[in-house]
Amino acid sequence: MRLKNWINSNRGIFPERDLRFLLKCVFYGDRSPILENDTFLNQKKLCDLEKIKRLYAKGIPLPYILGKEEFFALEFKVTPDTLIPRKETELVTERAIEIIARNNLKTVLDLGGGCGNIAISLKEFFKQKITIVSSDISFSALRIAKENAGQHSAGVIFVNTDLFNGFRGECFDLIVSNPPYVAPELIKGSLRYEPREALEASNDGLWFIEKILNQAHLYLKKEGYLILEIGYNHKQRVNRIAANLGLYKIVEWIKDYSNHWRGVILKGKRQKAKGKR
Ligand SMILES: C[S@@+](CC[C@H](N)C(=O)[O-])C[C@H]1O[C@@H](n2cnc3c(N)ncnc32)[C@H](O)[C@@H]1O
Repeated sequence: MRLKNWINSNRGIFPERDLRFLLKCVFYGDRSPILENDTFLNQKKLCDLEKIKRLYAKGIPLPYILGKEEFFALEFKVTPDTLIPRKETELVTERAIEIIARNNLKTVLDLGGGCGNIAISLKEFFKQKITIVSSDISFSALRIAKENAGQHSAGVIFVNTDLFNGFRGECFDLIVSNPPYVAPELIKGSLRYEPREALEASNDGLWFIEKILNQAHLYLKKEGYLILEIGYNHKQRVNRIAANLGLYKIVEWIKDYSNHWRGVILKGKRQKAKGKR
C-alpha cells in the first residue's frame, strides 16, 4: 500500500494535526521520506500505523500511544503519569517569556510542572539567564520531567512537593502555574486517560487557583509576577478572588485560540524579603 492511500482512507479518523504528528513519529526514526506521499508502506510500517489507529479509535489520546507530544516546538516524553501539554499552555508560556525578557527576571518557579514542558521551554529560551525550579506533587511526573530535561540538556531544578510547602523562605521573580482546574463532573471522554490529580479541582475547578492566589505573594519577590492558566469560565471569579485578597494588581488576561480567557498575569503588590535563589 502507498502512504497516500493509507492517509486518504484514514483522514476521517485523525484530525490533520494528529495525522501529521503520527506520521512524523512513525517515520522519523528511519528518516523515511514522509513528504513523498507515494512512499510504499512496508509490512512493518503498515502494522505500526494500524496498531496506532486501533488504540486511537478506542479513545486513547495519541500522545499516550506515541509516548510523546510537541510543545513549543520541542518534543516531550509523556506517559499516563503526566498531563498532555496543551496549545493554550503554549500561550501562557509565551507570555511568561515576554514578562521575563521585558523585566529582566532571573528566578522562576513553575508550580505543578507535569512533564516539565513550561520549565524546559523557558530554560531552552533563556539558557543561563534564568534559574528555574519546577515542582510537582507527583513523583512519577517529576521522573518524566527529569528525563525530558536531560533530553533537552535543560538545567532545571526539580522539587517534589505539595504546592509551596517545599519553598518556605524562598522568593521568586516569577511564579508560573498551570494548576489542576477541571471540575470533577467535567472529567470525561479522553480526559479520563489523564492523571486525575493533574486535572481535578473542587469548588468548580477553582480550588488550586484560589489556594495559589492565597499563598503565592509569600513566595514572590518585590513586584514579582504570577502567571496562572485558568479554566474557560473562571475569569470573573478569579478577578473577584484577586480583588478580595488585594495582594496583586492584575496586569493582563490571556485569551486562547477559541477566544476564551484562559490565563491571567498578576503582579505582587507587597515588598518581600530577598530570596535564596
Ligand atoms: C494541569 S497539570 C499541568 C502540567 C504541566 N505544567 C502542563 O502545563 O502541561 C497540573 C500539575 O500539577 C500537579 N499537582 C497537582 N496537585 C499538586 C499539588 N498539590 N502540588 C504540586 N503539584 C500538584 C499535577 O501532578 C500536574 O502535574
